[in-house]
Amino acid sequence: MSDRTLVLLKPDTVERKLIGEVVSRFESKNLDIVAMDLRTLDADTLARHYEEHVGKGFYGELVEFMSRGPVLAMVVEGPEDTWQVVRNMMGATNPRDAAPGTIRGDLGILFTENLVHGSDSLESATREIGIFFPNL
Ligand code: CMP
Repeated sequence: MSDRTLVLLKPDTVERKLIGEVVSRFESKNLDIVAMDLRTLDADTLARHYEEHVGKGFYGELVEFMSRGPVLAMVVEGPEDTWQVVRNMMGATNPRDAAPGTIRGDLGILFTENLVHGSDSLESATREIGIFFPNL
């Protein structure tokens, strides 16, 4: 059975003109992109998306970064465990710890500006797809 996850290419990926590079990795892995939209996120959407981080010390910095320019929101589909496949391709949250060969390991340095978001479970994927693509 096919399953889906939410991926966000963060403002740093768009600014650095790395959309093609990152999307290309998902395509090369033979994942399907079933929805895609470039949009600038408001504080309300970010509070829903990052509900587990609201109130944490880094939250202000995170919102400032995530709303400073457009993100590319995508729904990515694969045969099974797609959220896990995508998270493995992304690498560790802090790009300094991310292995070479991963998106963050190859392209990132800063903690907040870590290029890409991927849902961290099937439940998160369902919730996050509902926020970004309610009509899917
Ligand atoms: P992500 O896992 O996509 O979603 C939450 C984001 O918050 C995370 O990526 C980082 O960009 C950021 N983040 C998480 N923890 C910290 C931290 N301790 N300091 C700064 N940024 C963080």
